[in-house]
Amino acid sequence: MKVGIIGCGNISETYFNCQKIFNNFKIIACADINFEITKISAEKFNVKAQSIDDILSNEEIDLIINLTIPAAHKNIILKSLNAGKHCFSEKPLAINMAEGIEISKLSNKMKRYVGCAPDTFLGAAGQNARRLIEEKKIGNVVLGTFNLMSHGMENWHPNPDFFFKPGAGPVFDVGVYYITQLINLIGPVKSIISISGTATSERTITSEPRNGEKIKVETPTTLMGILEFHNNAKIQFFLFMGCLETQTFNY
Ligand SMILES: NC(=O)c1ccc[n+]([C@@H]2O[C@H](COP(=O)([O-])OP(=O)(O)OC[C@H]3O[C@@H](n4cnc5c(N)ncnc54)[C@H](O)[C@@H]3O)[C@@H](O)[C@H]2O)c1
Repeated sequence: MKVGIIGCGNISETYFNCQKIFNNFKIIACADINFEITKISAEKFNVKAQSIDDILSNEEIDLIINLTIPAAHKNIILKSLNAGKHCFSEKPLAINMAEGIEISKLSNKMKRYVGCAPDTFLGAAGQNARRLIEEKKIGNVVLGTFNLMSHGMENWHPNPDFFFKPGAGPVFDVGVYYITQLINLIGPVKSIISISGTATSERTITSEPRNGEKIKVETPTTLMGILEFHNNAKIQFFLFMGCLETQTFNY
């Protein structure tokens, strides 16, 4: 497949480099809302720099890889489908259920595939865990827990704003890896009990180049709850993005 990347930020380098590992796709062009960034990536990875409109109408391209920020995911996916292209998007697929359904409907109508991260459950650890369950090595899963307590991304990401806006936070940004893995292992979720919190309404960026700038927090940064699965398994979770202001972490 010939591929075009939209969104040439932090994670794009990983995708550009990944094509060396696989033999079934080739990235031929890239685009970003910021054309200066587009040009830098295009030159570095030897692909064509295009505007968003031009990459979407590029007839050579079969599939768009969408590496924009979460708030832009839905529109880029819909535009790709309307342009007759398949689309693989970084997570989350969309920032709410209604947008996800809109994508699903258009994908069916246009007869084009939409794929979405996280795909890490397909990796060696995920496959091994699935094999152990299928071979009944651990019996029935009835209880479990997953916890993620880390620093927020404002201490390493160059533009960390989106992590604190709707479509990110600890569930959409990192919880999805655990939840997707669990659904692959023990099936769909029947019900959820959860409470959320936001420790501070503002975050201070400590990464470069925007060290000292503030971000307004607009999504919960703490979630605690229980997932009840259709097979009656109950999995408890605690997802928390710490920060300098709460002094929870003292790196
Ligand atoms: N950085 C990571 O380690 C990482 C890891 C896994 C997944 N992801 C996911 O990848 C996505 C991108 O993350 P990132 O860290 O590269 O972010 P980033 O902010 O570094 O890059 C996003 C890029 O998208 C561009 N953009 C924003 N809106 C756009 C629009 N409407 N049209 C075209 N371009 C637009 C921005 O100009 C920017 O260059 C996010 O969904 C994130 O959750 C990131």
